[in-house]
Amino acid sequence: MRKLYLMFPEKIGTIAPELYGHFTEHIGGVIYDGIWVGKDSPVENIHGFRKFIIDKMKEINAPVIRWPGGCYAETYDWRDGIGSNRPKRPNWWTSWDGRYEINEVGTHEFIDFCDAVGAKPYFAANITSTTPLHIRGWMDYCNSPKDSTSYAEERAANGHPDPFSVYYWGIGNENWGGGGNMDPAVYAAEYRRYSALLDNLPGSKCLIACGPNADDYRWTERFLQAMADSEKRMHGFSLHYYCGSAGDPVAFSRDEWYQQLAQALRMEEILTRHWNIIKGWGMEDHARLVIDEWGCWHPDGSGPSKGQNLFEQQSTMRDAMVAALTLNIFNNHCDKIQMANVAQLVNNLHALFLSAGENCITTPTYHIFHMFREHQGGEAIRTAVETQTAEFRNKDGNSAGIPDLSVSASHKDGVATITIANLSEENEISLLLEAVGESVWPEADMSILCDQDLHAHNTFEQPNRVSEKTQKIDLSHPITVPKAGVLSIRAKLKQ
Ligand code: AHR
Repeated sequence: MRKLYLMFPEKIGTIAPELYGHFTEHIGGVIYDGIWVGKDSPVENIHGFRKFIIDKMKEINAPVIRWPGGCYAETYDWRDGIGSNRPKRPNWWTSWDGRYEINEVGTHEFIDFCDAVGAKPYFAANITSTTPLHIRGWMDYCNSPKDSTSYAEERAANGHPDPFSVYYWGIGNENWGGGGNMDPAVYAAEYRRYSALLDNLPGSKCLIACGPNADDYRWTERFLQAMADSEKRMHGFSLHYYCGSAGDPVAFSRDEWYQQLAQALRMEEILTRHWNIIKGWGMEDHARLVIDEWGCWHPDGSGPSKGQNLFEQQSTMRDAMVAALTLNIFNNHCDKIQMANVAQLVNNLHALFLSAGENCITTPTYHIFHMFREHQGGEAIRTAVETQTAEFRNKDGNSAGIPDLSVSASHKDGVATITIANLSEENEISLLLEAVGESVWPEADMSILCDQDLHAHNTFEQPNRVSEKTQKIDLSHPITVPKAGVLSIRAKLKQ
């Protein structure tokens, strides 16, 4: 038996609800036949969006949704998505997924979706192929008070007199790659130009600068250097890290289970090293991280569309484990992160939902977001636990190891939430929880996500093959964390 210490006096910070954010891009099957079915669809919908997804997102308190890309943003003209004349265009992804953009879902529709879910919108602005004035126009259209400007009147004529009050604006996307292939100094010059025009519009806003791809520390160093004497500051700094793949998305081996988790665990080092550079420049008050794309990226073809939907993949217990350990990392570093968005919501990379026509199911990853939802807005505290090394052969054939436990804890409104992931696929772990500096009542609620088969996943035929179970537990005795299993415990604090 091992002990898990909950160190209540060691406060990390508040877990911003936005760390549990989402991402919906116009790519493959994410928007059309994903969230959007159309107002006249036989599929139950609210303003044209799948009711099933809206209801389930409410259950996880989805706080924020990023849109319209991703790389899609690089060629997006927001004027194509308003009013009654919606042009059809080749979009950034057309040569990949063969689809032409019909613009049925534009600004008003996406805001309807966010409102139905109860989430805030986060818009990614195209700075690759438009002008600062064009994006300023979009911000004016979205946020100017009723009857104040011509754009506000146009918004009213299109059915929405009141402002949309979009607070989060990404100034570009992946500008080191698809977003213009810029170097950090060139992007900094663009950021300064755009932010000078956007920041002085009335209303509060959060302008998020394009940060690095994964472990590209050079981007962070050089971009921040070029921003050091800027009159305009950023309000957030993005980071993208995909932990890639290891073997087949569904039929992976034991070693590939561990290899995938090892790749996901790199998130901690990557975000910490970028944060140290930010601190080195003294920018931690305005460049808190926005990890607006993260997740597994497996080869195409394992999802229900069998490759029709670009980047669609199945999500097994392994993807759920990646989500659990990643969210634990975010909780444990909540002092450095202001938002994170798993990529992407439906029919794509690391999805929470898979859908086609009448069918729509949740994946094991959805259940992780459900089990972790009470961390949102909680005060994160440090934990201490003895880990053992789970050994495996890595992709180069060398012996490697990862810690077998991932844990985080927070408390809110007199209740502690503790989430525990057992990364070992061979050993269950017996744990006794010990609270330091506070006491918790022994009677607690526990949710469990596990399956004898690491490859277990949900399908249209078996939509609930993997789903969480709940039970009452007594914390005065050790709890068992099943192998390859995830627990969420809710225990009241003694006053
Ligand atoms: O999520 C898929 C793509 O991955 C996004 O469009 C892009 O930003 C990233 O490269």
